[in-house]
Amino acid sequence: MTHPLLKRIKVGFIGAGHMSQALIKGLMESKIIKNDQLFVSNRTPGKLLKLRELYNIETYDLNEPIVEDCDVVILAMKPQDFPKAVEEISQHFRDEQIIISLAAGISADQLEKLIPRGRIMRVMPNTPSLIGRGVIGLYSQTDEESAIDIVQDLMSSLGYVLKVETEDQFDALMISCSSGTGFIFEMMMYWQDWIQERGFTTEEAKKMTIETFLGASMLAAQSVGVEIEKLQQRVTSRKGVTAAGLDSMRELEIERALRISFEKASMRSKEISKQSLV
Ligand SMILES: NC(=O)c1ccc[n+]([C@@H]2O[C@H](COP(=O)([O-])OP(=O)(O)OC[C@H]3O[C@@H](n4cnc5c(N)ncnc54)[C@H](OP(=O)(O)O)[C@@H]3O)[C@@H](O)[C@H]2O)c1
Repeated sequence: MTHPLLKRIKVGFIGAGHMSQALIKGLMESKIIKNDQLFVSNRTPGKLLKLRELYNIETYDLNEPIVEDCDVVILAMKPQDFPKAVEEISQHFRDEQIIISLAAGISADQLEKLIPRGRIMRVMPNTPSLIGRGVIGLYSQTDEESAIDIVQDLMSSLGYVLKVETEDQFDALMISCSSGTGFIFEMMMYWQDWIQERGFTTEEAKKMTIETFLGASMLAAQSVGVEIEKLQQRVTSRKGVTAAGLDSMRELEIERALRISFEKASMRSKEISKQSLV
């Protein structure tokens, strides 16, 4: 059951880009809230026109009305646009308001410097959120349960929401799930290439790759209580075909390659965060 306040809260988006559009689509399709509870502003009018046509929601050329009227404000600008946009509206935030930042690389402390009032939370979606299959990280400066429940319910239309305890965990979730989506695509590209080189069409090779990743994921998801290692053992007979491939992967230290890549991504995330203008 969703939080009872969801029936009457007003949710405002500042920035009408990819993530806002995904969230609005998810909220509308899941019927978590109604279109007359949604409000959106954007720097330029094109995306607002589209959202108005699609969902008949109220849109604004200015950001002030969103902050003045809404109970939940979702800040969905790119990190480089973020400080300036927030500075311009900072005086309008209110103590009881829930303020959600989607910006990667802007820490909760930095947000608190920019936003003088309100219950601040960070949310990290990833691109599968566009189809409701994201992993969404939630980090909250407030431990007020009701506010957290509302945000969890709102974000559940994008996928699996996980509330983390520290910003280090928030960053780890971003690397493994948001950047991780890119890492998986890297592997899928080599998978498809290898198949294609053996005479399959691009279409067939792509389909075979996708279904293999999807099938393995779905099998893991539906094998409740079974570790991934156990599922792997089930496709691997001693000295068999799969075992030969896996031995080679281990000799080539695929685990090390992955761990180093995760660490490099994590270092870059910290660097970007330090360079942030806040
Ligand atoms: N996309 C992802 O997969 C993803 C994943 C995780 C987190 N995020 C985070 O989500 C946030 C949004 O990303 P996105 O991909 O949705 O970006 P996006 O498509 O570029 O959308 C950003 C929107 O913000 C608008 N904007 C910029 N400055 C503004 C201002 N002062 N006032 C009002 N609107 C303003 C832009 O308007 P214009 O139309 O005029 O350019 C644009 O429509 C970012 O902070 C990003 O780090 C995104």
